[in-house]
Formats: sequence, C-alpha cells, structure tokens
Amino acid sequence: MDKKIVFITGASRGIGLEIAKSFLHDGYFVIGTSRSKFALNDALSSKDCLHIALDVTNRDQISACIKDLIDDDKVPNILINNAGITKDQLFLRMKNEDWDEVINANLTSVFNMTKLFIKYMVKNRSGAIINISSVAGLMGNAGQVNYSASKAGLGGFTRALAKEVAARNITVNCIAPGFIETDMTSHFKGDELNGILNQIPANKMGNPQNIADLALFLASDKGNYITGQTISVDGGLYMS
Ligand SMILES: NC(=O)c1ccc[n+]([C@@H]2O[C@H](COP(=O)([O-])OP(=O)(O)OC[C@H]3O[C@@H](n4cnc5c(N)ncnc54)[C@H](OP(=O)(O)O)[C@@H]3O)[C@@H](O)[C@H]2O)c1
Repeated sequence: MDKKIVFITGASRGIGLEIAKSFLHDGYFVIGTSRSKFALNDALSSKDCLHIALDVTNRDQISACIKDLIDDDKVPNILINNAGITKDQLFLRMKNEDWDEVINANLTSVFNMTKLFIKYMVKNRSGAIINISSVAGLMGNAGQVNYSASKAGLGGFTRALAKEVAARNITVNCIAPGFIETDMTSHFKGDELNGILNQIPANKMGNPQNIADLALFLASDKGNYITGQTISVDGGLYMS
C-alpha cells in the first residue's frame, strides 16, 4: 500500500476515534479496533479505513489479526496503544479482579500489541509507537491504584523500549492526558467536576483533539527525534 498505515486500539469513541479522524485527514490509511463491532467507515465517511473487532487482552485474537494484515499488505508503520479502562475503588476495597482487569487492559495489552508489530518496524527500519498513558500515572489518583499503576508502567515500558529500538529509526513515546471530555469522564458532575476544574491551571477539561494533534506530530517526520518521553496534555495539571 502507498499510504502510511496507522493502527489505533480503542478507536470506536473518545480519544481513539478522534485520533482516527485526524490521521485519516492527514492522508493515512486507518485501522481501528474495539471489542464491540463498530462501523468505522461510516463514522469517518471514508473507505480508507478498516475496523477490526479485537480485545487487546486476547493474544489469540491478536495473532489472528496480523495474518490478515500481512495477506492484505496492511502492516502498520504507526501503532497507537489507546484502549484503556478504569475500575475505580479505594485500595482497601479493591478486588483482585479489578486489579487484574485494569493491568491486563491498560499495560499487558501494550506488550501484546507492540510485540506483534515491532518486528515489522525493525525490518523496515521505520516506525512510531505512541502509548496513551494518563496524568494518573504521573501524580497518582486516590481510588485509582490499579489505573495509576498501569499507566505508570507504560512510562517504564516506553523508556526501556525506546532505548532498544532508537537506532532502528523507531520512536516510542507516551502521551499523558489530563481530564479529557469523553465517556470515561462523563460521570464527573456538579461539585466533583468543579473540584477537578479548580485543580487544573487552565480551569477547563481538554478535548480529544488536543491528544490527536500531539499523536499526529509524534508520528510525523517533525517528531522523529523525540523518543522515550511522556508528554503531558493536561492544561497544566501535572508539572514536573
Ligand atoms: N478521557 C480522559 O480524561 C483520559 C485521561 C487520561 C488518559 N486517558 C486514556 O486515554 C485512552 C482513551 O480514553 P477515552 O476517554 O477515549 O476512553 P473511552 O471513551 O472509554 O474509550 C475507550 C476505547 O477503548 C476500547 N477498549 C476498552 N477496552 C478494550 C479492550 N480490552 N480491547 C480493545 N478495545 C478496548 C473501547 O471500545 P470497546 O469498549 O468496544 O472495547 C473504546 O473504543 C485510555 O487509555 C484512557 O486511559 C483518558
């Protein structure tokens, strides 16, 4: 295929869908995934995209997916590990399943997906991997020990892998969003929402486009000397 190909996990809504729109607009062929079926062609009003129903925690499904992509000449140059979940609970009440599910969906999934595609990037001596982390992985959030640990884990994953593959012309970075308006944050209302806004120097939530813009930059030639970084997009919420 002549076009560059981007593979985005969790592309059926929120940040992932916005990233899909931005990359399509920039001329990429877009492969987007979610567990549920999703009409990505309709959502993007384009034929230059493909939806794959895939659970990023299911290694059998992931292995099957690469065979089809090789046969169709659609092996991606850019991987965006965006799919993620929350299962919030104070630590004393956190169930083993809440821990396991969040670590599997947010951290082990990134190992699963990256392992699948990186050998093709190494072979082509070109590629970019962008992991969508969170301000929670940098600051820690009460009620989110599992989520914060999973997102902090992505920072270590990113730095170590970036060192291994930088000489092969592959970049690996994290974007750490703050509070972004999506389904994941739509339950914040009233006093709780005001409390959050008061902590954000910009005094407003971000939107998915803020994240998509940085992802596009990191994937482009303009971003190809940036690697191993965790870049916050959070209205100033976390300042290191
Ligand atoms: N919104 C925020 O304020 C915020 C802040 C910091 C970080 N983030 C991070 O940004 C990313 C996107 O967040 P969002 O707010 O856009 O979330 P969202 O609106 O809840 O969308 C999550 C996407 O991930 C998919 N997904 C979830 N689990 C999956 C799995 N096991 N396998 C495959 N796909 C899966 C969902 O589709 P299905 O349910 O159909 O699978 C959906 O497409 C997440 O990693 C999140 O942690 C978000």
